[in-house]
Amino acid sequence: MTNGLWNGVLAMRAAVSRTTQPVHFACLSAAGDVSLNELLSAEKVIYIGLGTGAHKPLPGQAYLQKTDALRFSIRKRGDFDTVALQCLQTYLPYLFLPQMADQMERACTVAHFAQSLDGKIATESGHSKWIGNDENLVHAHRMRALCDAVLIGGGTLACDRPRLTVRHVAGEHPVRVVVGRPEADYNSLLQACDQPIFVYGTAEARVNAPVDYTRLPDLPEGRVCSVRVLQALYGRGIRTVYLEGGPTTTSRFLQDGAVDILQLHISPMLFGSGMGAVQFAPIGKVDEAIAFRSFTFEPVGDTMMFVGIPENIQQAAPVAPAATATPKSK
Ligand SMILES: NC(=O)c1ccc[n+]([C@@H]2O[C@H](COP(=O)([O-])OP(=O)(O)OC[C@H]3O[C@@H](n4cnc5c(N)ncnc54)[C@H](OP(=O)(O)O)[C@@H]3O)[C@@H](O)[C@H]2O)c1
Repeated sequence: MTNGLWNGVLAMRAAVSRTTQPVHFACLSAAGDVSLNELLSAEKVIYIGLGTGAHKPLPGQAYLQKTDALRFSIRKRGDFDTVALQCLQTYLPYLFLPQMADQMERACTVAHFAQSLDGKIATESGHSKWIGNDENLVHAHRMRALCDAVLIGGGTLACDRPRLTVRHVAGEHPVRVVVGRPEADYNSLLQACDQPIFVYGTAEARVNAPVDYTRLPDLPEGRVCSVRVLQALYGRGIRTVYLEGGPTTTSRFLQDGAVDILQLHISPMLFGSGMGAVQFAPIGKVDEAIAFRSFTFEPVGDTMMFVGIPENIQQAAPVAPAATATPKSK
């Protein structure tokens, strides 16, 4: 994807996230200045035109129609080549998550893993760099740029020392969110950029924690409810979250019905041992598995990525004891 096209996607993201109207069509120009003053609404349709001000696609403009939550069909190819159109089809669905968040009154999530053919995301010792290819790294940074926040668990913070920035692409660094303990080592995040670091957990807050910590109510198993984390983030204006593991955290989000879209980048390698991408309690029958109500397979360089919408998505958190939220400033 060219820089100009990617900047167009970022500009569309900004426009779509500002409107409360239903958006069904996207209209992009391959060339010309990017200007989003052309956000035009009709009754149930908004055309997003870049650079021309036209309500309908002009020669040279592509015209993509949203056919479901994950799919855009190409109605007019415009000046775009196949690779550019494929990129648009890959990223346009995520521009609509802020509207979904407003409907659900919680932040929406896209979870991502790079996994082996046998479903492993790290070796037994926790080594995972890099299971994905270079294109997957760029993809992950694009997704960070398209989301308001990136969320990881305390285990990944300790193991990978991630920065969680968008250094490989244009865009704004996301807010960093960690589910875990306030007293962990946050230096890799603190040194990477100035975006806030929100931490959610069940532990008592230490007064001098270097992050913005909120204690949430414990579930009986001694952990926080994932939907409550997303409601708390929504309350802070965060509508989209890129969930980057590890397996303990993402599995809990999946079981809580708090993963709206799952991306599994499949690498051509076999581990034969190691950490599984998802870790659920054993199930007895196949029909107890989490199924996907819609899915696609997207190219990622010379490999592919499964993208699916789980069937068990929850809008609201179950009733829990009164929150003992204790927000703390840096
Ligand atoms: N291949 C990939 O795409 C990928 C991506 C990410 C990570 N990884 C790998 O995954 C491994 C780490 O995974 P992991 O499963 O051990 O760690 P993790 O999921 O990153 O973190 C687990 C920890 O986060 C906290 N936590 C998560 N959910 C919570 C909840 N609902 N309530 C309260 N606390 C919660 C807990 O911390 P406390 O126990 O401190 O309370 C828990 O022990 C590393 O090896 C990393 O390299 C691979």
